[in-house]
Amino acid sequence: MRGIVYTGEGVEFTDALEVRGPGPNEVQVRIRAAGVCHSDLSVINGTIPFPAPAVLGHEGAGVVEAVGDAVRSVKPGDHVVIATLASCGVCRACSTGHPTWCKSSLGNISTPFTYKGEPASNFAAASVFSELTVVSEVQAVRIPKEIPLSSACLIGCGVLTGVGAVLNRAKVRPGDTAAVFGVGGVGLNVIQGLRIAGATRIVAVDTVSAKEDLGRQFGATHFVDATTGDAAAAVRELVPANRESAAGALFPLGGVTWAFDCVGHPAVLRSALDCLDWSGTAVAIGIPPRGTEVSVDVNALAYVDRGLLGCRYGSARPHHDIPLMVDLYLAGLLMLDELVSLTRPLDRFGEVVDEMHAGRVARGVLTFD
Ligand SMILES: NC(=O)c1ccc[n+]([C@@H]2O[C@H](COP(=O)([O-])OP(=O)(O)OC[C@H]3O[C@@H](n4cnc5c(N)ncnc54)[C@H](O)[C@@H]3O)[C@@H](O)[C@H]2O)c1
Ligand SMILES: [Zn+2]
Ligand SMILES: [Zn+2]
Repeated sequence: MRGIVYTGEGVEFTDALEVRGPGPNEVQVRIRAAGVCHSDLSVINGTIPFPAPAVLGHEGAGVVEAVGDAVRSVKPGDHVVIATLASCGVCRACSTGHPTWCKSSLGNISTPFTYKGEPASNFAAASVFSELTVVSEVQAVRIPKEIPLSSACLIGCGVLTGVGAVLNRAKVRPGDTAAVFGVGGVGLNVIQGLRIAGATRIVAVDTVSAKEDLGRQFGATHFVDATTGDAAAAVRELVPANRESAAGALFPLGGVTWAFDCVGHPAVLRSALDCLDWSGTAVAIGIPPRGTEVSVDVNALAYVDRGLLGCRYGSARPHHDIPLMVDLYLAGLLMLDELVSLTRPLDRFGEVVDEMHAGRVARGVLTFD
């Protein structure tokens, strides 16, 4: 079987993969399309430590091939989006609608694959850069067959992460304002989530000026080129205070209600904090290397009700949010097809990576024909 494997030294396209059949509560899925998220690249470059060999890919969709004896929610032939949360379903977090807090949903590495005969692990409990994968029943979320799988696959990470950060974590209200740092696969979904939520001013920030058109297509009202100076100051200028106050001498006036770091760099998160209005909140989505810290003037938080939130996987509840993304797409409110700016067969993974590094893609999608 073909797949993309992180070997510890690098990445390999291989046809030396095997996957076991589904256990009683598992589903085996034939992957039809998989988006390349920056987190896959972060495994390869060591930013996200993961035991090798591992089958990469965690943003996928496909057709159910086989199900375990106890599986009731899907059957062979169903189309599914794969969620990366192998949550337990019975703990307090799961029972209160917070599967991203489920302690079973991180560090749950297993080895359903063999690579050249040796056990190989399942990145993000998904491993969708493989012709077949095995996931727990809770991760296989059925979608209507009318949705192209090459678009639906993006729901599995970038869309849930970006739109979910806006709707579930931030709970953005109509009239709120926002800055989005990083106009990639995740950032574009934050931007369209903000548009759906009714944010009135959406400032996209990127180091690649060509991202301006893409950002505006998804709903950005303004663009800041982060290579030309202080991005936080530029955001503040675009969203000025509506009245003057002497308090501006203590803490700057103006700025945005929400700022999303969709890059994963401490300087970017600091910019996100620096462009906030009083009461504004920065949301950390990007994943820098373990141990990365950001410094902040505590007074600039405590005096003016500013905050900092982390957000994993859009704080998503996959069996609620994946059908919601499907409904928003079918209603013409969520752009999925437009996110797919590059499609390549699995063996040309390297080309997608090169185009991502050059800042030329919204999302690259691998196909399995
Ligand atoms: N928290 C989560 O659950 C979660 C989920 C998915 C991805 N992520 C993380 O989100 C981040 C983004 O992922 P992606 O797939 O969208 O990446 P991507 O490669 O598609 O996009 C990154 C974008 O950031 C831009 N950029 C780089 N440096 C910048 C800077 N200094 N200022 C402004 N823009 C800059 C790039 O030009 C690019 O447009 C990664 O760190 C990824 O690991 C986190
Ligand atoms: Zn991802
Ligand atoms: Zn749980």
